Amino acid sequence: MWPLLVLLLLGLASCGSAQLLFVKIESVEYTNENKTVLIPCLVTNVEAKSLKEMFVKWKLGDKHIFYYNGDKNESKPISEFSSAHIIPDALLKGNASLMMDKSQAVPGNYTCEVTELTREGETTTELKYRVVKTQLLFTTIKSVEYTNNNKTVLIPCLFTNSVAKSLKEMFVKWKFRNKYIFYYNGDRNESKPTSDFSSAYIVPGALLTGSASLMMDKNQAAPGNYTCEVSELTREGNTTTELKYIAASWFSANDHILIIIFPMLSVLMFWGSDIVILKYNSNITKEKIIILSVAGLILSILVIVGAIFFIPGEYSRKRASGLGLIVIPTVILILLQMYMFMIAPANGKRTISIILFIAQVLGLLISLAGQSLCVSECTPVHGSLLISGLGITALVAFLGLVYMISVALVHSALPLLDPKQVPSRILYSLVG
Ligand SMILES: *[C@@H]1O[C@H](CO)[C@@H](O)[C@H](O)[C@H]1NC(C)=O
Ligand SMILES: *[C@@H]1O[C@H](CO)[C@@H](O)[C@H](O)[C@H]1NC(C)=O
Repeated sequence: MWPLLVLLLLGLASCGSAQLLFVKIESVEYTNENKTVLIPCLVTNVEAKSLKEMFVKWKLGDKHIFYYNGDKNESKPISEFSSAHIIPDALLKGNASLMMDKSQAVPGNYTCEVTELTREGETTTELKYRVVKTQLLFTTIKSVEYTNNNKTVLIPCLFTNSVAKSLKEMFVKWKFRNKYIFYYNGDRNESKPTSDFSSAYIVPGALLTGSASLMMDKNQAAPGNYTCEVSELTREGNTTTELKYIAASWFSANDHILIIIFPMLSVLMFWGSDIVILKYNSNITKEKIIILSVAGLILSILVIVGAIFFIPGEYSRKRASGLGLIVIPTVILILLQMYMFMIAPANGKRTISIILFIAQVLGLLISLAGQSLCVSECTPVHGSLLISGLGITALVAFLGLVYMISVALVHSALPLLDPKQVPSRILYSLVG
């Protein structure tokens, strides 16, 4: 009896020490890229000769989620883990690892309990989840340019392989010279520019179609490298585009020359007329001469100063006032011309004076319209309007000079009936 008891006790003791030994694995990781998840459970001292002697249980936390009964060779996962399975054939080699679909995997502590006929043991491994983001692909745009004419500036950021289904998955950051200037948080649908770039914005709706382009006021834009960083749930990437400032000429070179030349010609025509009047009208009073000369001088100075301010280049206050000094003194020119028509002894030729006056006013109005349309921005159409106006003014000033010459010649020639003056008489009859 006693020896039997001792034997039994010995057997129990040996049973207690005969633990199954496991390869200790603290944790394993799975990512969004895994299709299936494997939680390892490796026994190093399996002695069982047949599956019938084996039993495996898996727990998540305290909850049993999977049973394998070797006696019946039967696997039983619970419904939430319906895809969970082990490979029975591997059991006898000590492998009781659990596999399941990624979609059913839940991060947490998984415990593997293995039982043989006389021995048992368990090991716990943590399953961790990590997001692996793949690269978003961007359309490379090395640089974009803006000029004084851009009211807003757009820095493009275009990506092609987005998989986001909702704005909530998206996050956008914009950097200027390594300093963040703009954030968009899709989860909150909230945009946050920094104060230096308070006008910056993106169009959230365009994000889902692959655009995170940044818009901002021209006045806040600074030339340099802008980096767009886009992050989705599973994708991310960035692209850098340089913003360049290009000084754009306000007017093209040809337009510029014409804008200066026409008023200069007008002024020369005026002086021509002035000389003609003084030469052929000895009875003009000193006061009238002084008025004509002083006003003409002012006109000339204004136009010359205007032309100096109006040097070629991009739009600026100085150039704009230069253009003003070139265009607006046309008023003086018109008044002077009228004054000359009045003092010239051109009796009976009122019609011509009036026609020239109307043409002159028309030229002025066209110039002024062109000029006001050209403020800050000048499309070629507006430029030609301005030039036409100035051209008309110059042309009328020329006709005025011709008229003045003919009047003067006729006036001085008629009483003498000088045959040499015949050409001018023809001119006179033409003009008259
Ligand atoms: C500036 O304006 C031009 C013409 O409208 C446009 O083509 C260009 O893309 C703009 N530049 C920027 C940086 O927005
Ligand atoms: C996000 O906000 C913008 C303006 O702040 C709004 O126009 C847009 O409809 C919003 N989108 C969503 C999905 O809420």
